Amino acid sequence: MATDIARRDFLKGGAALGGLVATSALPTFADDPSVFPNRGRFERLSLQFFEIKAGATKPFTVLHISDTHLTAAYDDETERIRQIAKNRTRTFGGRQEEALRDSIAWAKTHNDYLVHTGDMVDMVSRANLDLVKKYFGEGGEMMLGCLGNHEYYYGQGKGPEPEEKKKALRDALAGAFPFKLSLSSSVLNGVNFVMLDNASDTISDEQATLFDAEVKKGLPIILGMHCPFMLRNMVAASWRFWRGNDFKYIHNMSGFKEKYKDKATEEFVAYLRAQPLLKGILCGHGHVGAVDRFSPTALEYEVAANFFFHAQEFTIT
Ligand SMILES: [Fe+2]
Repeated sequence: MATDIARRDFLKGGAALGGLVATSALPTFADDPSVFPNRGRFERLSLQFFEIKAGATKPFTVLHISDTHLTAAYDDETERIRQIAKNRTRTFGGRQEEALRDSIAWAKTHNDYLVHTGDMVDMVSRANLDLVKKYFGEGGEMMLGCLGNHEYYYGQGKGPEPEEKKKALRDALAGAFPFKLSLSSSVLNGVNFVMLDNASDTISDEQATLFDAEVKKGLPIILGMHCPFMLRNMVAASWRFWRGNDFKYIHNMSGFKEKYKDKATEEFVAYLRAQPLLKGILCGHGHVGAVDRFSPTALEYEVAANFFFHAQEFTIT
């Protein structure tokens, strides 16, 4: 029950109790010298290793992280943003920046590239956007990224926001993140890493057209985006993680059907499934790790949360 409260709190950012429970669940023991007297630099990182046979011109490795949920705010930011920063720091434990630093340090010493699939910040504040610039700056050429749903949160309530506010947010994001927000492409050793903004869990017709132009390049593709396509394992894992012991649901997935928010997204998924050039999908968002088959040529890999020090390392051949 206690963990259920903590997990709900990740989403809603509400109760202080949830924040305290979440904090106690963090791997702080790794800092205790009496437990780890010979502690090295990377004990806190929880890594999973995979290989993707994509047809690269030479083998290389990529570290994949998502959901760092930075919660910084400057003293002169609005009362609302400072309050959100305070509450959410308790939710995530206050070690998010350490986790990101450890991940970047690992990637720099062990990998060729680093992919962050969104929710680097928990909410947009000036302090958080400065951290985005700082850490993408540190990652430099080796670091790719896309936006997550939390990059669109700046303390607004429910209901439509004025257009000028949306535009100001978009401009602020474009000024902080060093990539094209809607879709960006980087060819790494003959493999096209296409990063998409699907933060609202949808792909627009415009993005589908841009993606099709990438397919026409004829190179193997690895797709990075924030929200997973909700395949069976992703749905089951997220149900277990966020809703607790609902065995009835887990054991009765015979009626399971993928669901998408709109027709454009549904059509894009069908189109993508038929693309033999697609070799893998990297995503996050659920804070829990899961892998499932998306198409005959591609698995989808959901990485657990970076604020909990999780990462996936891929050898691409
Ligand atoms: Fe997310």
